[in-house]
Amino acid sequence: MRLSRKVTAMALASMMAVSMMACGSSDSSAPATTAAPAATEAAKTEAAKETEAAKEAATEAAKETEKAVGAGGSIGVCIYKFDDAFMTTYRNALQEILEGKGYTVSVMDGKNDQAEQNNQINNFITQGVDALIINPVMTSAADQIIATVKDAGVPTVLINREPTADQMSAYDKLVYVGCDARQSGTMQGELILDTPNKGDINGDGKVSYIMIQGDPENVDAQYRTEFSVKALTDAGITVEELDLQRGDWDRNKGQEIAQNDLAKFGDEIEVIFCNNDDMAIGALQAIQAAGRKVNEDIYLVGVDALDAALNEVVNGNMTGTVLNDANGQAAGAVEAMEALLGGKTYAAGEQSIYVDYVKVTPENAADFQ
Ligand code: GAL
Repeated sequence: MRLSRKVTAMALASMMAVSMMACGSSDSSAPATTAAPAATEAAKTEAAKETEAAKEAATEAAKETEKAVGAGGSIGVCIYKFDDAFMTTYRNALQEILEGKGYTVSVMDGKNDQAEQNNQINNFITQGVDALIINPVMTSAADQIIATVKDAGVPTVLINREPTADQMSAYDKLVYVGCDARQSGTMQGELILDTPNKGDINGDGKVSYIMIQGDPENVDAQYRTEFSVKALTDAGITVEELDLQRGDWDRNKGQEIAQNDLAKFGDEIEVIFCNNDDMAIGALQAIQAAGRKVNEDIYLVGVDALDAALNEVVNGNMTGTVLNDANGQAAGAVEAMEALLGGKTYAAGEQSIYVDYVKVTPENAADFQ
């Protein structure tokens, strides 16, 4: 049973009880005006008692509402795939917060397959979950996902892959909680600007880089790619892109791309930008295998602040990373979900809630470990 609906029904029932009691009391007191005063008083007392009882019932119903949604509500969570380093941290945080609050939580692995995830969403709807938290497999599937949850009337929080404001405006019980990926790209560029030679290790007047991209369908990959380089060009730096390839957020792909590019471009590569840390860890393996030394003859930056990356930043094997705050986003997603369960709706253009990224250098890396 969907609690939000149950809750509304319970609240309605008790409101009706109050108004019906009120009607009943005036009805019974109407003829009493012409009857004996004692009978009038008795009727009034009876009516007052009934109204009091109705009020108590309403208070009880309100308490039940609180209990039902806050503890024992059932939440369906869809993750685009379990085999993703950052989303593993995120989903664990989400599950812990939800279970800590007494919700019954079911988390599904979309296995990077949108059709599979669509089935999971439909199953959750059939089971009557109270709310959904969805990390879409494909941003391009947002329209369909939104139409499905709207049709079922299930309050929904989208996470990690941001649809457009226009797409979200179709359903007012839907909100996106995530980060503004432009910010993370800019911070990656700033990490390079903060190095002693601003990324120009060989002093030839330009910063030559390779870009290892996440899944390009994802706005995080698009913005990080664009804004990391933009931070350099905005600072008046000349850049040269030696290569740009998709590594799909994957460590092994990051390693392969870096290995091939290091073999191809050798010392020409001064900076390796990776759209996330897992690919940066892969790139680091290739850098070390090629006998290069980060922060001496090459710079390397990622995003996420995975534990492994924080260690490498501290050890000087990564120039820096950017905290993608999994805990903050998970807490924000649950907060937004509870607001929706409490009846809040979101106006068009106000359906994105952002958590800030944080630049991570050897100086502050320990704060996040
Ligand atoms: C990004 C994150 C990546 C990957 C991706 C999945 O925000 O930086 O590591 O998890 O989300 O969509």
